[in-house]
Amino acid sequence: MKVVVIQGPNLNLLGHREQNIYGPMKLEEIHTQMESIAKQNNMEIEFFQSNLEGEIVDRVQECIGDADGIIINPAAYTHTSIAIRDAISAAAMPTVEVHISNINRREEFRAKSLTAPVCTGQIVGFGPFGYHLAMISMTQILGEIDAQKQAQAAAQAKVEA
Ligand code: DQA
Repeated sequence: MKVVVIQGPNLNLLGHREQNIYGPMKLEEIHTQMESIAKQNNMEIEFFQSNLEGEIVDRVQECIGDADGIIINPAAYTHTSIAIRDAISAAAMPTVEVHISNINRREEFRAKSLTAPVCTGQIVGFGPFGYHLAMISMTQILGEIDAQKQAQAAAQAKVEA
């Protein structure tokens, strides 16, 4: 199973930007923690960060046929990007949206996510721990899909026997 983690604009500045909102943890530290969770669960994981909308669209598209799930924090594009929303929808795979801050408690424009309606679920407001929660959710979702596939294969084998 392979999961791709996609980080949107300004998340490369975590640890530096608005620590009162996002905390002191750097993006690399978050990714190191996610890597160890992936290892524990026999999961392949890749990381990608971009400040450019089109590059994020490209990376989501590249997941098609290559990855089993996406964990994405589209950052400011959450509130503006129909292109990223359409890419997630087209990728049609389990996708968990993460926000470090509680976007529902901040400025009004942050409360609206264009991308959440095409994601499997959204985790907001738990700080960097949200990425940990996303990994647990993804492990659960992919495990269920795998179990379903195995049950279907077993049923098919029975029919053919
Ligand atoms: C964010 C919330 C967005 O509104 C903001 O533009 C970000 C980070 C978060 O993780 O809390 O850059 O996605």
